[in-house]
Amino acid sequence: MTDETADHLPARTDAAASAAAAAAAGGSGGSGENADGDTRRSIGDQSAQVDQAERSAFSRASDALQRHREPSEIWGDEREAVNIALHWAAARATVASDPKTTARSAAELHEAAGETITAGGIGAQRAMDLFDEVLLPATRASEDPMNLAYIPAAPTRAAVAFDTVVSAANVFGGMWENGAGAIFAENQVLRWLSDLLGWPADSAGVFVSGGTTGNLSALATARDHALRTRGRRPEGGWALACASTAHSSIASAARLLDMDLVTVPIDDRGHLTGDVLESTLAADPRICAVVASGGTTNAGIVDDIASVVEVAHRHDVWVHVDGAYGGAALAAPSARGRFAGIDQADSFIVDPHKWLFAPYDCCALLYRDARPAAAAHSQHAAYLDSIDRGESNPADLAAHLSRRTRGLPLWYSLATHGTDAYRDAVERCLASARTVARAIATTEHLELLLEPELSVVVFRRPGWTPEAYRRWSQRLAKDGTILCVPTAFRGEIALRLAFVNPSTDPQAVIDVLRTTMLEADEH
Ligand SMILES: Cc1ncc(COP(=O)(O)O)c(C=O)c1O
Repeated sequence: MTDETADHLPARTDAAASAAAAAAAGGSGGSGENADGDTRRSIGDQSAQVDQAERSAFSRASDALQRHREPSEIWGDEREAVNIALHWAAARATVASDPKTTARSAAELHEAAGETITAGGIGAQRAMDLFDEVLLPATRASEDPMNLAYIPAAPTRAAVAFDTVVSAANVFGGMWENGAGAIFAENQVLRWLSDLLGWPADSAGVFVSGGTTGNLSALATARDHALRTRGRRPEGGWALACASTAHSSIASAARLLDMDLVTVPIDDRGHLTGDVLESTLAADPRICAVVASGGTTNAGIVDDIASVVEVAHRHDVWVHVDGAYGGAALAAPSARGRFAGIDQADSFIVDPHKWLFAPYDCCALLYRDARPAAAAHSQHAAYLDSIDRGESNPADLAAHLSRRTRGLPLWYSLATHGTDAYRDAVERCLASARTVARAIATTEHLELLLEPELSVVVFRRPGWTPEAYRRWSQRLAKDGTILCVPTAFRGEIALRLAFVNPSTDPQAVIDVLRTTMLEADEH
């Protein structure tokens, strides 16, 4: 790598990322005398203000990366391609999001980008330029502080940066024998989550791609466990029970697993409770699993997990808690009480890419007792059976075999910042939701539809037609003011705000709601 290349480094970036970029691009840059000794010097010279702690991080990273990779006979010398991509990633990790970026039609994108896949290749610089100038601007900034639609995302910079490290390390995370060190670190994160759940020391889990896959894998385990313990498939096939407020991925799992979905009525405040579940289970012995929401997506409602568990277990029915969005609130003392009874649930998911400040894609799937999961999911083949299964293998606990160690960005961020910072970040989102809800309740032209249980605020603008909601939402999305899209709540059109970004300023949200909704009436 040349000095010119080093000049592209962001003026003051994370030293370890710089080291990784330098080492990957130069293939070396280590602490000893070697062909790329200049690399280390040039970065060191440029970073006069980098403090001692960062310098030692830099040299440790470099020490581990001294073995030079020779140019490949097929791919040639890829250092330029590596350099371009990693420098872009390092710079991108620290820039502010642009709330105005938005989807474009495939035709427009084709017009702007042309054919990018060609026999000879278009070259790294051209591909990167297209990504930066055309493709990425046609995506939505999930982490923008004023993006409060759906469930957005707000990964820490540490987690984002480490995602690049995970790719560079390229660990096969399916089996302990291949990925031991990385899996060990992931397991420490899963242990932290298990402790939040109040689960025993031998509970175990795995990181999968998202809540949909996590729910599917947990429910496949529940169904398999029922078959093994009950001895045969019931007349009419298996069924699973949940409230109508359960996430759409539960219905999808039921379809894929060929299970009937039995909808259990909710109480006045929107919770699935043991009382009503009791009669549902008594009436339908085909039900082998019940799903409780640990924070519904639409309104952030946490089902009455304690009574659900008590009733389900009396009927020998597995309890899965879908905390894809809301499970993060277990880390927050002010919300933990809502999850009473979760210590007795059988399986649980939480998506760190939603509210635990990790980048896509990441779902933690946990089992209080992982043996039924291993029985349901372990794959066997002549070439696999030589694998030592003495340690728990992530591949054995979900519907997958090859896997990226996608829990590591969360591990790095948690290890860097500590669990107290996570508690505080989740609490801040909860506080923002409560502040905005209070302001809505006291604003004449707005109506709060539900006291938030977690960090979703549902409200309406009395008198507005669906078209008025749509116009307001689209206008503010387009000018980058706020992303807040209409939903339906208790049969009425409504608006919802999901607070998962600790950088969101609640006062800025209140100001937007108080001004723009009145202005909209004047248009
Ligand atoms: C409660 C809940 N469960 C499951 C999912 C599905 O998660 P994913 O999008 O990661 O597949 C979501 C997504 O919003 C969710 O909110």
